[in-house]
Amino acid sequence: MADEQPLVGVLMGSQSDWDTMQHCRDTLQRFDVPHVCRVLSAHRTPAETADFIRSGEQNGMKVFIAAAGGAAHLAGVVAAHTVLPVLGVPMKGWSLDGMDSLLSTVQMPRGIPVGTLAIGKAGAINAALLAVSILSLTRPELADRLRDERRAQADAILATELS
Ligand code: RP5
Repeated sequence: MADEQPLVGVLMGSQSDWDTMQHCRDTLQRFDVPHVCRVLSAHRTPAETADFIRSGEQNGMKVFIAAAGGAAHLAGVVAAHTVLPVLGVPMKGWSLDGMDSLLSTVQMPRGIPVGTLAIGKAGAINAALLAVSILSLTRPELADRLRDERRAQADAILATELS
């Protein structure tokens, strides 16, 4: 699937989010899900953010992942421009340990939903896994790969020996 049209659009508000969000990219790559990662900000590049969503939707994207820190409104703005699923990843940010980002992302008022994941690396990875899960509704091979990965994860835990 790697060379096909992107199915997942990954946005982040700043280059400084990439250290965390590269784990999202790595997870999408592991499942061979075609994707695009872009730095686009709700407040610094509002017009380009809207353009990216509009053209992504027109070109066949199925899920958007949006990561931001601080007053983290990126995922909500993305969701305002599409009816496709939007997954928000709160970044740890420069203060408040990411609680500001978490609440900004998760507390969407009724009507425009954002599915919010955990703060930081776990959220970045889980956003990718949830995107794979959403895509698996119409791509059974991805459901098989998710099952295989969960089995491998369980096997690794069960094989753990403590010294
Ligand atoms: C948000 O502000 C970004 O998503 C980032 O998490 C945070 C800080 O951005 P920089 O000041 O590092 O560019 O918009």
